Amino acid sequence: MEVATLPADGGSGDASALQEARRLRTAGQLKPRQRARAAQRLEKAQAAASIALGAASSYLEAEMDLPAYFAHLGETIAGLVGARRVAFWRLAPRGVLAVQREPFGFGPHSSIRNLNIELRLDGEGIAERIVFRDELDVAGGTCKELEDFWSDNGLTGIRNAIAVSWPAGDRRIGALAAYDSKRGFTSDDAWVLRVAAMATGLVWQYREAEEELDVTVERLEEAMVARRHLLANVAAGGDEARRRFASALHDDSLQLLTAAELQLERMRNDSASGQQLAQLNQLAATIKKVEDSLRRLLTNVSAEALDPPVGLHEAIRDRLESMRVHSGIEPDVDLRLPDKLPDDVKSIVFRNITEALTNVEKHAHASRVHIATAAIDGGVVVEVSDDGTGFVVDECLYVPGHLGLLAMKERAQLAGGWCRIVSEPGAGAKVEFWVPTA
Ligand SMILES: Nc1ncnc2c1ncn2[C@@H]1O[C@H](COP(=O)(O)OP(=O)(O)OP(=O)(O)O)[C@@H](O)[C@H]1O
Ligand SMILES: [Mg+2]
Repeated sequence: MEVATLPADGGSGDASALQEARRLRTAGQLKPRQRARAAQRLEKAQAAASIALGAASSYLEAEMDLPAYFAHLGETIAGLVGARRVAFWRLAPRGVLAVQREPFGFGPHSSIRNLNIELRLDGEGIAERIVFRDELDVAGGTCKELEDFWSDNGLTGIRNAIAVSWPAGDRRIGALAAYDSKRGFTSDDAWVLRVAAMATGLVWQYREAEEELDVTVERLEEAMVARRHLLANVAAGGDEARRRFASALHDDSLQLLTAAELQLERMRNDSASGQQLAQLNQLAATIKKVEDSLRRLLTNVSAEALDPPVGLHEAIRDRLESMRVHSGIEPDVDLRLPDKLPDDVKSIVFRNITEALTNVEKHAHASRVHIATAAIDGGVVVEVSDDGTGFVVDECLYVPGHLGLLAMKERAQLAGGWCRIVSEPGAGAKVEFWVPTA
């Protein structure tokens, strides 16, 4: 009769054939035939362990679903340890053991499928000792305590049984049990079972990690969609406000101004006095200036709304031309963007360019501005640089009431891109940003 107590060392299998052979060999007690038999057992156990390892990983690579995976694995393990049935028991929340589907060798109506075994709080039951401490007494081809345990839990007709802890890294996630060996179970069988449980635990960890990754990816995708919606809404909201402002400016203020000019024209014609005429001419010139500045504003505002017929390149060139006429800054242009870009991307690109150009006009005292656009890395990259006074970026980025630079950064980042502002006093300034188009 073989008696072996397996310790809770997470599966080294001290009482295996290997240990026994070593012990006897060092004690000089091994006869040649015994030595040959011990070597054979060792080889068999090692071969079985390597098959179990191979099965745990190769069935997973075949990408079968979990029940099929456990059914196949159970069958392979049963063959290796000479069992008629094999079941993985999974530790569910609140300390309940339930069988992992599909257990091998149990019929579709077996009571094993509905068993929910509550573990004892004192941790001293056989199930707790196996799951958490990996303690198993194999004697006479079985573990008597385990046999009684199964029958107490309604799993009848078990001839003999062994079970080992099922670890996943540092965690104990359940037990692996084998039932009904014709020849009776040995400590070598327990060792093979332990190797199989460890390999399956690793695979389980891998699966869990993969699932977590899938959930994270899904959440990330949802966040990206939400961000895109937000962006589209912000862009659309901004465009709508601009359109309303532009039409009010055009249909109301500019009409009134034109009416005032006409009135003034009539007064000038009717006026006799030379001094009055001079004053009226002056007033007409002032009104003309106001009108010009309002029209410029109108061009900028309505161009920013980017009505569909206006192409992005055309809008950029118009803006540069207006800058050249009004501020004398010579543009140097290299525009290479595809015709078809999503509206929100066009809107961001154009808004950032206008902000950068307005800054050059307002602050830089530049004589030249260089602007380049290109499609790159699944997005659009834009560079606007000037040869003006330059500035200390860190000092100018967070100035109350001055939002242009920050807005450029935020717009690019909100769209999933980036924006860099590089400048130094006396060395001009460069704004560079990239936004994804996909
Ligand atoms: N190209 C540039 N050349 C020199 N100084 C610049 C340039 N761009 C920005 N600056 C400096 O950075 C400051 C912040 O720019 P930002 O665009 O944030 O605000 P702003 O242009 O002053 O106001 P707004 O909110 O209307 O854009 C500017 O006031 C200016 O001092
Ligand atoms: Mg600005």
